[in-house]
Amino acid sequence: MNMKTQVTSLGRHPASNSGSVNPPVHHTSTLIFSNFRQMRDYEQGKGTHHGYGRHGNATVDALCEAIIQLEGADRCFITSSGLSATILAIQSCVGAGDHLLVTDSIYGSTRKYVMKELMRYGVDVTFYDPLIGAGIEALFKPNTKAIYVESPGSLTFEVQDIPAIAKVAHARDILIIADNTWATPVFLQPFELGIDLSIQSVTKYIAGHSDLVMGAVSCKHAHAKLVEDVFLHTGVCAGADNVYLALRGLRSLVVRLKEHERSALKIAQWLESHAKVKRVLYPALPSDPGHALWKRDMTGAASLFAFELHHADEAIVEAFINSLHHFGIGYSWGGYESLVIAYQPAAQRVATTWDKDCWLIRLAIGLEDADELIADLEKALNS
Ligand SMILES: Cc1ncc(COP(=O)(O)O)c(C=O)c1O
Repeated sequence: MNMKTQVTSLGRHPASNSGSVNPPVHHTSTLIFSNFRQMRDYEQGKGTHHGYGRHGNATVDALCEAIIQLEGADRCFITSSGLSATILAIQSCVGAGDHLLVTDSIYGSTRKYVMKELMRYGVDVTFYDPLIGAGIEALFKPNTKAIYVESPGSLTFEVQDIPAIAKVAHARDILIIADNTWATPVFLQPFELGIDLSIQSVTKYIAGHSDLVMGAVSCKHAHAKLVEDVFLHTGVCAGADNVYLALRGLRSLVVRLKEHERSALKIAQWLESHAKVKRVLYPALPSDPGHALWKRDMTGAASLFAFELHHADEAIVEAFINSLHHFGIGYSWGGYESLVIAYQPAAQRVATTWDKDCWLIRLAIGLEDADELIADLEKALNS
């Protein structure tokens, strides 16, 4: 079924919900069992009755069902944020004494978790060059348990050769954890590429309206028990009202993404041809070094990319950003509104080097008119 059609019906069961088009919101902590035997069955992992609100309810089930179908997964775990989904996935694969390989292009808060928390608990972590491909094998240790990929990186946009990494990893029973937030399952089918645990910051394109934070980890049956145990033991659940909002956002995911992509490509192409722009980091552009891999592995592009100005220092970047009218100065992306941030990648790298003076300006292109956004950018570039 076409995904545009699919998202309109996923997780909806009107006949079981008094005819309601949308799944009802279940505000639950306690769920009452019909009798003691049902409770005992639940405790022994039998039956379908939920046991406690933190572990799930029918509203959460609806979103899980939808994401399972979209990602091509068997199980999905909904968490309080994209970051808690990341932590859930990582902790499902590694413990004290294990080795984890992490892409150097990783999202900043995930880097902080790995460096400030995970290492504190005795996990050995090595950051690797995102462009390493099958060469990652040289970094394997006898205790390597998982490889974390993020493709493209949401700050510097390198596309990773996930199938090549997965091939050498799986030969040694090493799992692939991927942050699939940029591509979403609409543009990248994680399990077809060899990913074992797929993470979504639902906050971004799935929810799409900048009104909640939430995450999801999806996997096949083979790894479900690993994730389920950590999920049940760590209490990283999401609230039912937010889950409802995420489901509401999901209904328009495919049409929004197509529009986001159309506008982002137009704006990226325009920026690329501007005399003041040194380069645009966006895999959907044929000039991008990751274009061939992107084209091979993904069916579309998100609307998040970065560019670099010629001769930009902090004062120039500041003047540019302050001159923008349609771009909010704010973190996150995937919502209906355009956003801008600027940063120096060199400060966040340990396995790869960046020019220490390089400033990147990252745009999250929203659903505004692309020509108006271009006019805004042009005015700011001339300021
Ligand atoms: C690539 C990526 N992954 C994960 C996250 C974390 O998601 P959340 O903000 O929902 O915790 C973010 C947030 O910006 C992100 O950009």
